[in-house]
Amino acid sequence: MGKTWLLAFILWQIIPTEAAITVGGGVGISIGNSGGGGGVWIGGGINNSPTPSGPSVSKLSSAYTALQAWKSAITDDPMGILKTWVGSDVCTYKGVFCADPHGVMDSASEPFVAGIDLNHANLQGTLVGELSVLSDISILHLNSNRFSGTVPDTFRDLSSLQELDLSNNHFSGPFPTVTLYMPNLVYLDIRFNTFSGLVPEYLFNKRLDAIFLNNNQFEGELPQNLGNSPASVINLANNKFSGNIPANFGFMSFKLKEILLLNNQLTGCIPEGVGLFSEMQVFDVSRNSLMGHLPDTISCLSDIEVLNLSYNKLSGVLPDLVCSLRSLVNFTVAYNFFSGFSQECSKLFFRNVGFDFSLNCIPGRDLQRPKPECSVIPGGGLSCLRIPSPQPLVCGALLGNLEVNLTSSPP
Ligand SMILES: *[C@@H]1O[C@H](CO)[C@@H](O)[C@H](O)[C@H]1NC(C)=O
Ligand SMILES: *[C@@H]1O[C@H](CO)[C@@H](O)[C@H](O)[C@H]1NC(C)=O
Ligand SMILES: *[C@@H]1O[C@H](CO)[C@@H](O)[C@H](O)[C@H]1NC(C)=O
Repeated sequence: MGKTWLLAFILWQIIPTEAAITVGGGVGISIGNSGGGGGVWIGGGINNSPTPSGPSVSKLSSAYTALQAWKSAITDDPMGILKTWVGSDVCTYKGVFCADPHGVMDSASEPFVAGIDLNHANLQGTLVGELSVLSDISILHLNSNRFSGTVPDTFRDLSSLQELDLSNNHFSGPFPTVTLYMPNLVYLDIRFNTFSGLVPEYLFNKRLDAIFLNNNQFEGELPQNLGNSPASVINLANNKFSGNIPANFGFMSFKLKEILLLNNQLTGCIPEGVGLFSEMQVFDVSRNSLMGHLPDTISCLSDIEVLNLSYNKLSGVLPDLVCSLRSLVNFTVAYNFFSGFSQECSKLFFRNVGFDFSLNCIPGRDLQRPKPECSVIPGGGLSCLRIPSPQPLVCGALLGNLEVNLTSSPP
């Protein structure tokens, strides 16, 4: 539903307002049966002109050639979607959406394919390089199909593409670097495939708003510029990333609302910079091998709702300042080596916050580790480097005057 709205919105953005006004019927958007969609008609120009003239032939006819090439690379179509992919009028194809800037002064304007949405079509096959002629598409949604292979290099010509969703397919091979050349891409979703190898650093310099790489086989260290990303959501969960969370994480960008690093092989401390993501709502680093004490800066995450640190090797006393965060909904530290918590954390139960501290080393509490496991704290000698600063980088008003000063920059 949201997707449909978004598509309509993006198409609306493409079509200048005059088009909507000059054409008699106004803007008509009709999306066919659920699951495919029969096409989007804006201005109604395409259907009504049986002999499109001039340049409109060229754009739609090259689209025809490309889509037919793709059709022949699709080997299974259990829902019969491609049965509609016949004839030269590609705008009637299920899952293909056209826009018609008919009526705009710009004489170069002509109908074009503006998006492809074949989510949940269960198609089996590969992508073909010919699709790169669809240089006007802003959306390519292929979620939940059985496409395999890689993303063709020619896709760098998809210069209008804003949303690429290849999630839940059988794509494999290295990170599709061709996506880095798409100048207008804002949404990159390649989760639930079998991509492998390293993730290029440049990904996190790119002006993306959402980066979903979870549930692949990516490995190696997290790029040092991870925190540069202007994205609001980064999901790297369920891969094989190793090494430390970059120490400068948090110093570059403050826009991140959700970061999911769970179920990788990360080690070392949770860096102090985490606290600088003042808009963070979800921070999940569960199921790694992180060690050491929690940085007090976590107490600066004033919007945090879900803080999941479970299944690591973290230790120390849970800071009261963290437990006093007002937006917390779920705070999970289960299966670590924490040795205690005090007043503010006990209050979480009354505040109706989900607080799971099972299987730690907290004396006098139920469901803790057996004593012998707590005699040697992993990484006990690990000193999580603190940011040298005149005042401790701590938020909240609990401890009197320990007011945060996030404006003071790290050396
Ligand atoms: C926290 O993480 C663990 C391990 O990944 C998971 O099983 C649990 O559901 C998570 N809890 C919350 C509240 O996110
Ligand atoms: C918090 O945890 C509970 C129990 O694990 C879960 O049902 C709920 O969906 C979680 N809430 C959020 C916002 O993750
Ligand atoms: C924070 O630090 C800046 C620069 O170091 C300083 O000018 C400002 O007064 C400080 N604010 C507080 C609340 O301490």
